[in-house]
Amino acid sequence: MKRVAVINGPNLNLLGTREPDKYGDRTLDEINWLVSREAESLEISCEFFQSNSEGELVTAVQLASDSDGIIINAGAYTHYSIAIRDAIAAIAAPAVEVHISNVHAREDFRRVSVIAPVCVGVIAGFGSNSYILALHALAGLDLPV
Ligand code: DQA
Repeated sequence: MKRVAVINGPNLNLLGTREPDKYGDRTLDEINWLVSREAESLEISCEFFQSNSEGELVTAVQLASDSDGIIINAGAYTHYSIAIRDAIAAIAAPAVEVHISNVHAREDFRRVSVIAPVCVGVIAGFGSNSYILALHALAGLDLPV
């Protein structure tokens, strides 16, 4: 069974009440439940982690180094955290960058991702479904295209 770490960054603990026009009504617990249900059908086991602190997110990425993949929504850190980028670059596990909103349709500063170049791909703009799509992306990584 594949093992995937689902890592969420700052303010994503507030999903459900945080700017629902941009991020929807689902709480992070609800999203994680949907992800783990989908993961079961793909024979993937998921571990979930959320932190508002950059250092804790760096440690979570390092600890996931022996997993089969990482799904990471680094929140605002996406746009400037070289430390999280370097942690992703340092480990062998493939990472998928995820965003609930379409960051390219928002403010200019959200169009920049310092972590995208060290991820296998980016999924943004599909609401909480972005996490499910990332799961399928990781599940299919070693399949021929
Ligand atoms: C986000 C987009 C980021 O720009 C923002 O800072 C977030 C959430 C998203 O999931 O759409 O916290 O990562």
